[in-house]
Amino acid sequence: MARIIAVANQKGGVGKTTTTLSLGAALAHCNLRVLLVDLDPQGNLTSAVGHRPAEDQTVAASLLNLRVPFPAVPFEENGQALFDIAPTTAALAAAEAALSVRIGRELRLRDQLAPLTNRYDYILIDTPPSLGLLTINALVAAQEVIVPTEARYFSLQGLQLLKASIEEVQYLNAKLHLGGILLSKLDRRLREEKAVAAYLREEWGEAVFTTEIRSNSKILEAASAGQTVFAAPQARRAAQMYRALAQEVIARG
Ligand SMILES: Nc1ncnc2c1ncn2[C@@H]1O[C@H](COP(=O)(O)OP(=O)(O)O)[C@@H](O)[C@H]1O
Ligand SMILES: [Mg+2]
Repeated sequence: MARIIAVANQKGGVGKTTTTLSLGAALAHCNLRVLLVDLDPQGNLTSAVGHRPAEDQTVAASLLNLRVPFPAVPFEENGQALFDIAPTTAALAAAEAALSVRIGRELRLRDQLAPLTNRYDYILIDTPPSLGLLTINALVAAQEVIVPTEARYFSLQGLQLLKASIEEVQYLNAKLHLGGILLSKLDRRLREEKAVAAYLREEWGEAVFTTEIRSNSKILEAASAGQTVFAAPQARRAAQMYRALAQEVIARG
């Protein structure tokens, strides 16, 4: 059975998509079977792997019509099958609105994913920057949540809100728990970031991953080139950080 992990934070630009993609690639390089689900209507994860799905083979189509199987498209890099991706288009925004008045609206992702859970070791779900119905679907489908965050003062308040959402969703999904908080683009040269990182570790203790992903321009460069950090030779240090994160995630499972 797959370990299903939602990557969530209602703040945008904190590294959710980057974490999903790079952690997913790192787990795949450990010979684990990985599915990445793009649950953000912006489709950044889908674009990152250069996939342009047909509208009837997307996450949105499968959530709206229970007869449409959940999509899983193989992604290859350097001639090697890495992971599968469940792709999204902007139509997911309209689908979310349509879903809000449908039966079982919070359970659809969980139920559509169910037939796939034996095919993977890890299913990572990238979520939009909100605590709306799509993120709720991710939290209902998952067993745990990884929360990427910046080390900024205003990011800390958001963590309490997300924790409250996790507790609320436990009403439908008692297994759901916080898998870990990840400092996902930390710049230790900045005094504020250093202080906030220390405060975060003090306040949240072991919930914070030991591994820190440092702010690293090569991550951006690899993404722009349509590569994971593992395929971009100049991003070797970034790849090493995500490899360490993958080891920590595996050990926490
Ligand atoms: N560790 C990092 N170092 C530098 N840039 C990063 C890092 N992590 C993410 N980014 C960049 O920050 C931006 C926002 O990241 P993204 O993963 O899209 O956030 P989210 O999905 O939470 O909106 C992207 O341009 C991404 O390439
Ligand atoms: Mg994103």
